[in-house]
Amino acid sequence: MMKYNPSHIYYMITIQCNQKCTKCSHWKQKDKADRLPIEKIVQAIKSISTAKEFCIVGGEPALFKTEIYDIINGISDMSIRTAIITNGVLADKDFIDKIANFNIHIVFSIDTLNKEFWKFVRGTNSYNVVFRNFEYATDALSSDKISIQSVLSKETEPYISEVADYAKRKNLYHSIQDYVSDGFNGSWTEKTDKQIVISDNGQQCFSVDRNLSIMQNGDVFTCFQQSWIDGCQKPLGNLNTQEMSKILSFDYALYISKKMKTCNLPCKVLKCNMK
Ligand SMILES: C[S@@+](CC[C@H](N)C(=O)[O-])C[C@H]1O[C@@H](n2cnc3c(N)ncnc32)[C@H](O)[C@@H]1O
Ligand code: SF4
Ligand code: SF4
Repeated sequence: MMKYNPSHIYYMITIQCNQKCTKCSHWKQKDKADRLPIEKIVQAIKSISTAKEFCIVGGEPALFKTEIYDIINGISDMSIRTAIITNGVLADKDFIDKIANFNIHIVFSIDTLNKEFWKFVRGTNSYNVVFRNFEYATDALSSDKISIQSVLSKETEPYISEVADYAKRKNLYHSIQDYVSDGFNGSWTEKTDKQIVISDNGQQCFSVDRNLSIMQNGDVFTCFQQSWIDGCQKPLGNLNTQEMSKILSFDYALYISKKMKTCNLPCKVLKCNMK
């Protein structure tokens, strides 16, 4: 039987957040559903034989540390790496120590080293706490387990090279993601010359036949932005009431996959949709 066979699984563990960024409005929202039971997430991941990478994103994932521990513990017998994208505020010594020995990669979002500009970026004065946590994490983790991600916009452009130098001095990978307005509802300005340039020929987006996104309410989509594609608004299914293997075998998943092959929306430049 034909099936959708994803290798990169994403879990938006919450939309809620403890920062007030100007690039992103997730912090203005509240989760609308009950917590998805952790066993359902673990079972779902375990049932995908093609899964290679699992990424916990939000909102701020570290608001739900116990769930993170339970998930990485639950899938620890599989050869899947779990990435956690964090604003760093709650990624303290205790958190880092608890996850350090698992197959993880933690990404700290850092757009500037300038204390004043930081307040504009984060809408809060969290510079000191984030750098204290980050310094501990870089000491405690090997360099393959931690990296920095920055968002490039007209506003952050003057600050990014300093972040890049800092990452280099620490021997850490530094990824740069283009600022995207749609979906994040931020107030920054997209640059016209993008960091990521994708040719207009051939398949546009790398999420096709690769990504699977689970939302906090249990809804399952291919890419996070699947509902932006004409005729693909409905989720593939919901983990509260359906098994993942069933969800991936619906004809609807294959229909969406076909539509994605010619999809060319601004979200294709987000790291979760890139190579
Ligand atoms: C939405 S955040 C969620 C995880 C966590 N709260 C954080 O900030 O790292 C995931 C990533 O998206 C980035 N991001 C936020 N707003 C963005 C935007 N408008 N365009 C592109 N990337 C954005 C963040 O910097 C972060 O690296
Ligand atoms: S970018 Fe991350 S830290 Fe900032 S508001 Fe969005 S979810 Fe929160
Ligand atoms: S461009 Fe966006 S909506 Fe289209 S397939 Fe890629 S991630 Fe999904």
